Amino acid sequence: MLRQLISVALAALVVVAAAEYAETVEGYKFITSGPRVSASKAEYEVATHKTAVELLKMRLGEEELLSLLEPDPTGAEPIWHELFANSTPSSWMLAGDNMQAAASIPNATLSHDELKTALIQFKERIGEDSLMAMLKPDIVAADVIWHEVIANSTPGSWVPAYGRAVCLLPNVTALGFAMWSASPLEDAVNNAANAEHYGKRTVEIAPGVLTSEILEGWGGVTTLFTVPNYTTPPNRTMYPFLDENPKFPYQGAGDKVLRDGTGAVFGVLHIAIRDVDGADYGETGSGIEISAAVWYGDGAGDDFLEAERQHMVIEIVNVALQAQKDIESGVFVVPSFGSKSK
Ligand SMILES: *[C@@H]1O[C@H](CO)[C@@H](O)[C@H](O)[C@H]1NC(C)=O
Ligand SMILES: *[C@@H]1O[C@H](CO)[C@@H](O)[C@H](O)[C@H]1NC(C)=O
Ligand SMILES: *[C@@H]1O[C@H](CO)[C@@H](O)[C@H](O)[C@H]1NC(C)=O
Ligand SMILES: *[C@@H]1O[C@H](CO)[C@@H](O)[C@H](O)[C@H]1NC(C)=O
Repeated sequence: MLRQLISVALAALVVVAAAEYAETVEGYKFITSGPRVSASKAEYEVATHKTAVELLKMRLGEEELLSLLEPDPTGAEPIWHELFANSTPSSWMLAGDNMQAAASIPNATLSHDELKTALIQFKERIGEDSLMAMLKPDIVAADVIWHEVIANSTPGSWVPAYGRAVCLLPNVTALGFAMWSASPLEDAVNNAANAEHYGKRTVEIAPGVLTSEILEGWGGVTTLFTVPNYTTPPNRTMYPFLDENPKFPYQGAGDKVLRDGTGAVFGVLHIAIRDVDGADYGETGSGIEISAAVWYGDGAGDDFLEAERQHMVIEIVNVALQAQKDIESGVFVVPSFGSKSK
């Protein structure tokens, strides 16, 4: 009987494994999982870029947005106008509709890299404070959505959105990644890590208590929030629903709290990191596995959760690649323990 139960459990694991997506990004192997739609990081990224570009266009106007590309970063100015050709006005306020709205934007002749370059330039030239001010109507709309989700959720019933990646990066260890993540280098890459990242700045949430105020969207639900009490390890009394992840020595968790003055907790972020041996994945070398989960009230729709899953996979791959670059180049030196000398 036990044996049978075990093989049923193993069969379930195989089903989970089937949803993994293996790909090589910038020369490194990644095995991602979590999203319902199994696709490459680039495919998820194209959709989020369209969402972000359409949002900025709606707030700033097409002409003004395009003027931010002058002088053109790629020397291919005429094609930028195709970005908006025949695009349909979209409703940004519902995650399910948003994903369709993003998908309804016709493919421009822009390559994914060109789209990324354009969006990064838009965000840099608008500037973080102006972006946050400009997207105020979207933040207010997202606050309304979150209060509805909370009202429609069963108290204490949380549902997870997972985004995971095994990242075979020769210079990144779990400890190294955890330390790099806590350095200003991760903040520096924030706006490039995901198209729907609009800003992250330090604010004082109580006298003498500093935290990061973050503006991010998931399928167009553009939310201003803080994670005021992220702790490592997770407080499992406070969050009994979190996965144990026994093989992951580096874990942290904290509330996602709206910045609308209500202090409403609309999600719980849980990140787990471990070292991996490439041989376990039929690869050479070593690397890390990053497993992220955001738990929402059970009133959150699966289309929203899917936008979050894809968002996390994109972000994990991008930040892990940046950690690899920063550690390999020596920009970030992983402190070694056991030695007190500098
Ligand atoms: C847009 O591009 C994607 C990815 O390259 C492709 O799968 C899709 O068929 C294209 N859509 C149209 C309308 O051309
Ligand atoms: C974490 O923050 C939430 C929301 O602000 C609060 O309810 C909770 O008591 C805090 N917990 C700790 C340990 O600070
Ligand atoms: C963990 O959470 C519980 C319940 O909210 C709280 O009483 C306790 O102080 C927290 N532990 C730590 C170490 O913050
Ligand atoms: C990065 O990894 C490569 C391959 O293992 C190694 O040769 C190199 O010394 C490492 N660089 C650093 C800065 O650790």
